[in-house]
Amino acid sequence: MITVKGLTKRYARTLAVDHISFEVQKGQIVGFLGPNGAGKTTTMRILTCFLPPTDGASNVAGFDVLEQPLEVKKRIGYLPETPPLYPEMEVREYLTFVGRLKGMSGSSLAARVGEVSERCAIADVSSKLLGKLSKGYRQRVGLAQAIIHNPPVLILDEPTAGLDPKQINETRELIRSLAGDHTIILSTHILPEVEQTCQQVIIINKGKLVATDSVHNLQNRARGAESVVIEVEGRDSALDAKTVQHRLETVSGVSRVVFKETLNNRSSFEVESLQDRSIRGDLARAVVESGWNLNELRPTAMSLEEIFLQLTGAEQAGAAAPPPVEAVAQGRES
Ligand SMILES: Nc1ncnc2c1ncn2[C@@H]1O[C@H](COP(=O)(O)OP(=O)(O)O)[C@@H](O)[C@H]1O
Ligand SMILES: [Mg+2]
Repeated sequence: MITVKGLTKRYARTLAVDHISFEVQKGQIVGFLGPNGAGKTTTMRILTCFLPPTDGASNVAGFDVLEQPLEVKKRIGYLPETPPLYPEMEVREYLTFVGRLKGMSGSSLAARVGEVSERCAIADVSSKLLGKLSKGYRQRVGLAQAIIHNPPVLILDEPTAGLDPKQINETRELIRSLAGDHTIILSTHILPEVEQTCQQVIIINKGKLVATDSVHNLQNRARGAESVVIEVEGRDSALDAKTVQHRLETVSGVSRVVFKETLNNRSSFEVESLQDRSIRGDLARAVVESGWNLNELRPTAMSLEEIFLQLTGAEQAGAAAPPPVEAVAQGRES
């Protein structure tokens, strides 16, 4: 549905997007992830025909972005970083205005304005002035204008930025409900966003593509060493966590054992293997042969955050860390 090849954008002195290529399949929600300044907005503006690339080609829904921009625009709904809302317009009036720009008219336009207002939960403010809306409502009006012409492709630039946690959840739900009939690229610098909303991730850093894969594969791929959580229970006598830890540490292939907790004669540990060693069988045997019960043995999921840091290098740690929820809620809500 979307193909990008060798896309490059140079501003006067900044190489904002550096030869990136990726593909997005129909019906997918793809997270476009990267710290601030990575080149996300620039890429999205190129895909939506608002900005010419310096080099490279992109194709959306079968049309070349440079050669057939009108065809591309018809098939794309775009939520820019700051949606262009006219403060003195009413919501319904604005959506009707945008619909006309997209070539719609008459009763079908009126019906569609009603539909998207329902879908984006803004029907109750349809005669309010845009300038009087809260940030959450403004963002949903931004989404409503993006889908007004029912485009197959949606490009959403940081759709949850500046929203409070409740609004973030509502927006995520809305975006998920749009998947299926729509192919969606959403950009974000907040990692959990991608884990919770997207099937596929494209990670960029300093204009370069760092990785593109499914969330699932990324998590597997980044893990060269095995990491498991193990819970051991004392059978006849009280369990001594230290003894268990020492026993686990002597299992072949184990590089590290971290004690987590002891509760009701059960102790749990996180165990990491040496690179490319499989340790689960030996761990299980060691526990049982020592006369303990093996209650649980499961792989720990690697968070996208860890993967991201691994892929982009530790120097990005500051930029990549998601802001605390409170900061999002209080700092940017207007
Ligand atoms: N209009 C512009 N003129 C010059 N430099 C720009 C312009 N827009 C963005 N940049 C630079 O390009 C880089 C990528 O920016 P952007 O695409 O906005 O990143 P992101 O959306 O990932 O935060 C940044 O270094 C930014 O400062
Ligand atoms: Mg941006």
